[in-house]
Amino acid sequence: MTLLEIKDLSVSFHGVRAVEGVSLSVDVGESVALVGGSGAGKSTVARIVAGLGSPDSGTVTFDGARILGLRGKKARAVRSDIHMVFQDPYASLPPSLTVAEIVAEPMAIHGIGDKEFRRDSVLAAMEAVNLIPAERFLTRYAYELSGGERQRVAFARAVVTKPRLILADEPTSGLDASLRVEIIDLMVRLCRDQCIAILHITHDLALAQRGSDRVVVMQGGRVVESGSVESVLGNPQHQYTAALVAAAARS
Ligand SMILES: Nc1ncnc2c1ncn2[C@@H]1O[C@H](COP(=O)(O)OP(=O)(O)OP(=O)(O)O)[C@@H](O)[C@H]1O
Ligand SMILES: [Mg+2]
Repeated sequence: MTLLEIKDLSVSFHGVRAVEGVSLSVDVGESVALVGGSGAGKSTVARIVAGLGSPDSGTVTFDGARILGLRGKKARAVRSDIHMVFQDPYASLPPSLTVAEIVAEPMAIHGIGDKEFRRDSVLAAMEAVNLIPAERFLTRYAYELSGGERQRVAFARAVVTKPRLILADEPTSGLDASLRVEIIDLMVRLCRDQCIAILHITHDLALAQRGSDRVVVMQGGRVVESGSVESVLGNPQHQYTAALVAAAARS
């Protein structure tokens, strides 16, 4: 069953097209990797889905309902089902809040649960991302965590409201290579366990392969290829995808 459907999306900034006629879909519980080089338009697509910015044309449907341009209560309901995890948790985690407050914040924003429910949910989310014992982290601030711990907190915050879709925009780009794999595997396992779909944005094909069901390749604002991980990476049809695969094999 389709959860997210983007159709013919075009976005411009100051009259310059950044995204041109992009269509892609994510099924319930599915993990889709969106890959492409810098400036390909990947983050722009994710930001539009998250309600940040408006496109020139195109539609975005979530669970059968159009979500672009929603306001008020309806917009908030969709926002609690779609959670975005950004590239740099340093910039995206509120610096003035403790870890406990950061992880609880989405529940506060969406008015979910009472104090006790929120505390229990925070502990469960911390455990799910392997920040244990949680007590060691709850009263710290983001700057008092390692890079990997910060990104785990970002995921705990992402899953605490039990969203149906996580938009993960280069969630490991600030981390070293061995940690990247560990964090992506954690994200994939976490989402699979809870039937959360992922749109995983990355320029790293090695990471795109990990746990993704399908791959969508963007270049210059357009989708140039999409399909199963095996077919796209094993037998790329587009010249640009082939170049990405060859570059990944060399690295
Ligand atoms: N707010 C903005 N104002 C003007 N131009 C923008 C804005 N956001 C993105 N762009 C431009 O749109 C194009 C696509 O940017 P986008 O951030 O979507 O690329 P990306 O695929 O995520 O790249 P990267 O891998 O470097 O993160 C780029 O040319 C970028 O400069
Ligand atoms: Mg980006």
